[in-house]
Formats: sequence, C-alpha cells, structure tokens
Amino acid sequence: MQQLDWSNLPFGYMKTKYNIRCTYKDGKWGELEASDSEYIPLHISSTALHYGQQAFEGMKAYKGKDNKVRLFRWEENAKRFQNSAEGILMEKVPKELFLQAIVKAVKMNAEFVPPHGTGASLYIRPLLFGSSAEMGVKAAKEYTFIVFVMPVGPYFKEGFNPTKIAIVRDSDRAAPLGTGTLKVGGNYAASLRGTVKVQKAGYSSPMYLDCVERKYIDEIGAANFFGIKNNTYITPKSPSILGSITNKSIITLAEDLGIKTERRPILVEELSTFEEVGACGTAAVISPIGEVNDLEKGKVYKFCRDGKAGPISKKLYETLVGIQYGDIEDKHGWVTIID
Ligand code: PLP
Ligand code: COI
Repeated sequence: MQQLDWSNLPFGYMKTKYNIRCTYKDGKWGELEASDSEYIPLHISSTALHYGQQAFEGMKAYKGKDNKVRLFRWEENAKRFQNSAEGILMEKVPKELFLQAIVKAVKMNAEFVPPHGTGASLYIRPLLFGSSAEMGVKAAKEYTFIVFVMPVGPYFKEGFNPTKIAIVRDSDRAAPLGTGTLKVGGNYAASLRGTVKVQKAGYSSPMYLDCVERKYIDEIGAANFFGIKNNTYITPKSPSILGSITNKSIITLAEDLGIKTERRPILVEELSTFEEVGACGTAAVISPIGEVNDLEKGKVYKFCRDGKAGPISKKLYETLVGIQYGDIEDKHGWVTIID
C-alpha cells in the first residue's frame, strides 16, 4: 500500500482493498461477499438507474490511542438505513447483516484506518439499490447492498476553522411530504444546482430554507444546522431535513454540559441574534460557520469575528470527537469496539 499522508487527507473517494456485497433475491438475503473490484455488473433497466431506488449511509470508524477501532452509534445508522429503504419501498437490510457487513469491510481494510491523533478517520459508505429490471414505475424485486470504505480528512477544507455558506432561494433539496427525511440519492441530485451555484460564488455549502414559505432554516448541504445563544443550543425542527445522528448526539452532550437545547423552527432573520452557528454531521463533524450570505436579499450574517470557533462549539466538538476516538469516557454507550 502506498504511504498515506494521514494528517492531510481530503474528504474524497479513494480505492481501498475490498468492498462487501450482498444481494436480496427470491425473497431472501444471500451471503456477504468480499470483492476487490470497484465495479458492479448492473442491469440497464434496474430501478436504481431509472427511478432512483437508492439509499445510502455515512458513518466512520475511529482508531483510539489503544489502537482499537471504534464505531459510533452504528445502530442509529442501521435504523435510518431501514427507514430510507421503507420510504422508497426497497427491501430493508436487517440490522445484524448491516453490522456484519460493516465490521467485515473495516476489518478487511484495516490498514486504511488512520492512526490516532491524525484527525482522520475511515469513512464507511453503506449503499442499497434496486437491481432488478422494471420498465413501468415499480419497486424492484431484487436489491444489492454494498459497503465500501476509505480514509478521509475534514469535509470542509477549513477543518475546524470557520467556513462560509450562502442561502439558496431558487431551488429546494426536498419537500415536506417528499423524501427530505430519507438519505436517498434524489435529495443530493436536487441539491447539486444550489451547491455548485454557491461554490462558484466562493462559499463552501448552500443553506436550504423550508420550501413552503422559504422563511425558516432547513439544513446546510450535507449537514444539519445549529445556532447558539444565551447558553442554548438551537437546531431546526422541520419535516424536510435528514435526522442527523451527530446532531442528536450533540443535543445529549450539550445537556450533559448544562447547555439548554431547543429543536424548533428558526427564522432566517434569527441568524442576527446567534453568538455561534455551525454545521454538524458525520462528514462535517462540527464545522463552525463564519459567514452566512443571503445572496438574493443582499444581507450578510457574520460570526467568529476573531477567525476562531466559538467556545461552546469548541467544547461540543472536543467532547464529541473525544468520545468517538475513545479519549473521553463513553457514558452513553455509543461506541462499539471492533475486535
Ligand atoms: N443532513 C444531510 C442532508 C446529510 O447528508 C447528512 C449526512 O449524513 C446530515 C444531515 C448529517 O447526518 P449525520 O450526523 O447522521 O451524519
Ligand atoms: C455524511 O456526513 O456522512 C454524508 O453523508 C455527507 C456526504 C453526503 C458527503
């Protein structure tokens, strides 16, 4: 294996040794199989290709000082994967099969788990899609489940330094009764126009608003949003955002630290009242936001005027990451060690 510069890894695709595959056929899941190919034979009329029958997950494995590899709240990802499958009528992956595939993928690529202290982790991408042929709009009869992994660094190039985001008002990523709460590819396809538009203008990610009134903050690209004021952590309640496992964990940690928490609709204008704002997610971890530009309204909200993350974001970040890497006691039983 080539020498990797662990501390300077980007968040991007990298080939590792093996991926794990399993197919659902004739009413049952088959055996897990390891493959060293990055390609799949896929029917030209599969429902994944035509009707977007596809869902994925994003999780990470972390190496501790003790060299043990840890998963963070894998059961939450397993549950959300099932929920996404159910939402677009795909066969669900049983929890035990999900865990077995992940453990196998991590173990068979053990040399790619970044060393402790480098800030990097092994990103795990479980993927599920309809793989049998249909032509009318129908759910597939066969499904393919794949898990592949790769070592990654920070999602935003700024790492834990403030990033800049911009509000998108001319496209929506998801609708309230649509698929916004599911982790399905269609939502990401819908977010591409907004993402590219703001990136061309020099921002790292788009901020999406509720698509009914465009008054409330929904989420940020591939991460949830939070704002902090008066010792209170506030995050949007919305029927069109993905339930972030990171956000849910931060809420618990905030409460442990004596910080109040609220999940409620957040008006865009409320941005001017926050002391700290950020994005959170598996890839984003906790990323402080230094600027939110409401491009179309010509209004700019600034934070982190000293160029650094605020004190509460910092404390939450250190606590979360400390638990994930095994440096801080896991009081909530969130961590699973892979033997
Ligand atoms: N929102 C979107 C749209 C995402 O893609 C992600 C990433 O998974 C998140 C939020 C954060 O969720 P989690 O913390 O479970 O990774
Ligand atoms: C994650 O945080 O795991 C994500 O899924 C982000 C990804 C869409 C790049």
